[in-house]
This record gives sequence, structure tokens and C-alpha cells, in this order.
Amino acid sequence: MILLNPGPVCTSQRVRNALLRGDMCHREREFSGILDGVRKKIIQAFAPIGDYTTAVITGSGTASLEAGVCSSVSEGKKLLVIDNGVYGDRIARIATAHKIDKVVLKCDWFEQPDIAEIEEAVSKDRDIEVVAMVHHETTTGLLNPVHRIGEIVKKYDRAFLVDSISGLGGEEIDLVNDSVDICIGSSNKCIQGLPGLSFVLIKKTELDRLRSIPARSLYLNLVSQLDVQEERSECPFTPSVQTFYAFDEALDELLEEGVANRIKRYERASGFLRSEFKKLHLECLLPEEICSNTITALNLPHGMTYAHLHDRLKERGFVIYAGQGQLNAKIFRIANMGELSMQDLEAFINNFKEVIKNF
Ligand SMILES: Cc1ncc(COP(=O)(O)O)c(C=O)c1O
Repeated sequence: MILLNPGPVCTSQRVRNALLRGDMCHREREFSGILDGVRKKIIQAFAPIGDYTTAVITGSGTASLEAGVCSSVSEGKKLLVIDNGVYGDRIARIATAHKIDKVVLKCDWFEQPDIAEIEEAVSKDRDIEVVAMVHHETTTGLLNPVHRIGEIVKKYDRAFLVDSISGLGGEEIDLVNDSVDICIGSSNKCIQGLPGLSFVLIKKTELDRLRSIPARSLYLNLVSQLDVQEERSECPFTPSVQTFYAFDEALDELLEEGVANRIKRYERASGFLRSEFKKLHLECLLPEEICSNTITALNLPHGMTYAHLHDRLKERGFVIYAGQGQLNAKIFRIANMGELSMQDLEAFINNFKEVIKNF
């Protein structure tokens, strides 16, 4: 199956073979070596300059997102959530689950948020301690203006938390220049590992503040996860050892390809898909300037249901993705994350054309 959904993605043979490195006890030094290596490679790939550290958590992206959110807002302080999609809303829901006071700026799903509105919200409320936003809103494929929001957060001396679960490896982000203090990623998606691990990149200057916040969760406490990984080269709880093997291999692949080249590869792939869709007169949900490199959201062909399109393509070996939330009945999404060749994408387009022709 060629997976054109935004994770789990198609992985390379090399990553899948890594699962077979054998059984291993996570309290032995061999695992410590893998954990240290994985953490080092994450920093090398995404925060090569600036003083960042990282904690890897066994759990999907949401686990690290929840750890980041519930560990970063002090009691009596607030989280400002910029919400322009399902994943922005998820940040707000995490805050609600942990009884964290929050201000939610509900923004249009089809355009970038209004910078002036965000500046006003941050400047007028001294209690806002952390501003949270999704980098690449997977719901629509919209890229949020991380740099411009980072400037505001820095200007008012607050902390900036970015969910880059579908961004890291696929979109440019410069944690130092974009003033990001806490950044969440996943082993899967654009990093092309297997699902099941996620990580939080943390600016070291944030750590004293984080240490002063009473734990809201035992498992998802960023400080305790990080301390055990730094001090003992271990995970506090049983990690998914084999998923670590695959993540380690996927990070090697990423570093060999180069993050900038990976981003370019995805850009070329989405450029190809979009030009083909344009020829078929299919309507993109978003203007091109704010589209990510990895998701193309399109209105369904006239009269066709998502189920029909999905099922016919699946019979031909391609898995596409539905719209979420308010877009469920109207759109379909094509993700070009993962180990996909141009031949795979050309084959997809040829099959797509036949499905449309036979409708
Ligand atoms: C932007 C974003 N945030 C969070 C998540 C949740 O990640 P997971 O499903 O790995 O928990 C996703 C998954 O698609 C995502 O795209």
C-alpha cells in the first residue's frame, strides 16, 4: 500500500529492518547508548545551535504535546492557544483536561491568524505565561507564521510552545530565530520512523521555570522524563525499545539526506501533485502561499463521496485521507510525507485519473 495519509507514513526497508535488531532490556547500557544517540541526533537535526535539550517519550505525538502543555504553565498563570484547526483545538482540550486556565483565540481555518489580534491578546493579559500554536495545521495543510508569533512572544517575554508534530523534517523552522522555547515532534510523519515515540525539544533556559511547576501528571511530566534521561541515560518507564531502533535508523537517514534536502524533496512532491490536480480542475482548499510542503487538501470532485474515492483508490493500492471536523464531508487530503518516490506519485496520479474517468 502507498500511504498518502499524514502518518503513519511509508517507511524505508532500512527503517523496518531495524525492528529486528533483537530483544533488549531497557535498563542495560546498550539501550542507554541508543537513547543517548537518538537524543543527540534529534538535537543535531532540529536544534543544532542554541542551547536545547530533548526528552523522548513513548507515546504518539499527543503524549509529548500533553507533556509539553501540562508541564509548562504555572499555577495561577494562563496558556494562550492560537486555534485554527483540529490540532489547535487539541492543545486547548489538553489544557482543559489539566484544569489549566486558558485564553483561546479561535481563528479562521483557511487563513493565517491575525498577528495584530494575537499581539493585543498577549499584551493586555499579564497572566498569559505561554503562547501555544501548531506549526503545520494538518487539518487543512496550513502553515502558521511561527516566526512572526515568536517575535511577539519574545517582545512580551512569554514562553512559546509549538506543536511541530507534522512540521519537523517537512517545513523550515529555526528554533532560535523563531524564538521557540518548547517544540513537540513525533518519530513518525516527516521523520519517517515508526509511530509510537514522540519528543519535546526544550530551551535549557526554560528549565528552572518548568522545575518550579508542580507536576500535573506522573507519566507526562517533562521535567522528570528529562531528568532521568539526562542523569541516568534511561527512560523512567518501559520504553518501546524496538520503536527506538527504528527511530534511530530514521534519524540516521534524515541526517544523511539532510533536513534541508528532505524539505526540498517534499516541496517537489507536493508541487508535482498540485500541478496535476490543477490540470484536473480540482480545487485546493487553501491559497498556495500558505500551503505546507506535505498536505494538499482538495474539495471532492463534484458529486463524488469521500468513501467512493477512498475505496476505489484503496483497491488500486493507495490510501488517501478524509477531512476532519467541519470539513469531513467536503474534502479529501493527500499527504506526501514518508518514503515515496516520484514514480509512486506518478502511479497515484494515473490511478486517480482513472477513478475520476470511471465515475
Ligand atoms: C499537528 C499535529 N498535532 C498533533 C497530532 C497528534 O499526533 P498523534 O496522532 O501522533 O498523537 C497530529 C497528528 O496528525 C498532528 O498532525
